[in-house]
Amino acid sequence: MNWRLKSALFRLAAALPYADALDRRRRTRGRAALSVDISLHLTPALKMLRRLAELRGFAPAGRVALEIGAGWNPVYGVLLSLLGAQRVILLDIQPYLTFAGVRHVLRQIEPKLPEIAAATGAAEADLRARWRPLAAAPDFASQLAAGRIEFFAPASAAAAPLADGTVDLFFSTCVLEHIPEADLRGVHRETRRLLKPGGLVYHIVDLSDHFAHGDPSLPRLNFLRYDDRAWARLGQNRLFHLNRLRAVEMKRLLDEAGLSVIFVEAQTDPADVEFVRGLALPPRFHGLTPEEIAAHLCHLVAEKRSVR
Ligand SMILES: C[S@@+](CC[C@H](N)C(=O)[O-])C[C@H]1O[C@@H](n2cnc3c(N)ncnc32)[C@H](O)[C@@H]1O
Repeated sequence: MNWRLKSALFRLAAALPYADALDRRRRTRGRAALSVDISLHLTPALKMLRRLAELRGFAPAGRVALEIGAGWNPVYGVLLSLLGAQRVILLDIQPYLTFAGVRHVLRQIEPKLPEIAAATGAAEADLRARWRPLAAAPDFASQLAAGRIEFFAPASAAAAPLADGTVDLFFSTCVLEHIPEADLRGVHRETRRLLKPGGLVYHIVDLSDHFAHGDPSLPRLNFLRYDDRAWARLGQNRLFHLNRLRAVEMKRLLDEAGLSVIFVEAQTDPADVEFVRGLALPPRFHGLTPEEIAAHLCHLVAEKRSVR
């Protein structure tokens, strides 16, 4: 579908009083959620764990992990559960997660247990022993209980129903780009409150124009050409919001909240740098280099400083 039509449909649908319910139905009942190939999520999830192990010796067993914006395909949550996390807390502003969604991940992850064992150093027999009761659970509540998974929704990442200092790992994938900048500051303040001293933060942020995901004719960073006013109309409403923050700005917000960024991987394609150089950029991006603006994906790792 043409992206401008899509944008207009989101804008119209967002104005309906039952917009959230419609969106939830689309995500959880349609075939989209249950046709996702979990490899797309498993590869970055294993990368996150490898990186946390390398940087700070982090291993999930016995730890408390919180994923914000967990969505409908809980690959990271199931993986952490199989690796023996003490608590896996999944939180989302929308209750997208379902029994069928978890079962879909469990079915697809089973043939990948040898790969997970090889990548993490866990014993395949232990992974399988934790997978079995999850897969056998007859309903959502017993499924979550079998995996030591807690699900909070609707709940905002800026106000989690959890006590101070309970979390070892606070993470998200493809979520921060959807949160308005002002709200992101609140999310990072909440992160600091929830983390144990020395606790870790890992965010994977898709910095591209998401309209381009479904429209190959659109340049990956097309949305950068619009000024804030035009973009607020095209791509910022209740059902679809992209804040367009770049990796360096995401990093700065974490630092400002007292979360020390210890690692940034920003993925940039030379063709996108050329594209950015060719744009008459709106003032909102002035002060950043074309390379900084052109990054289309970033992984950010931070930790809670013990003293502010
Ligand atoms: C693009 S989806 C990503 C879902 C999942 N992390 C994945 O990678 O498949 C973004 C998710 O973030 C959630 N979300 C957006 N803003 C949020 C907020 N302020 N607090 C909690 N969740 C939020 C949305 O409801 C949605 O489930």
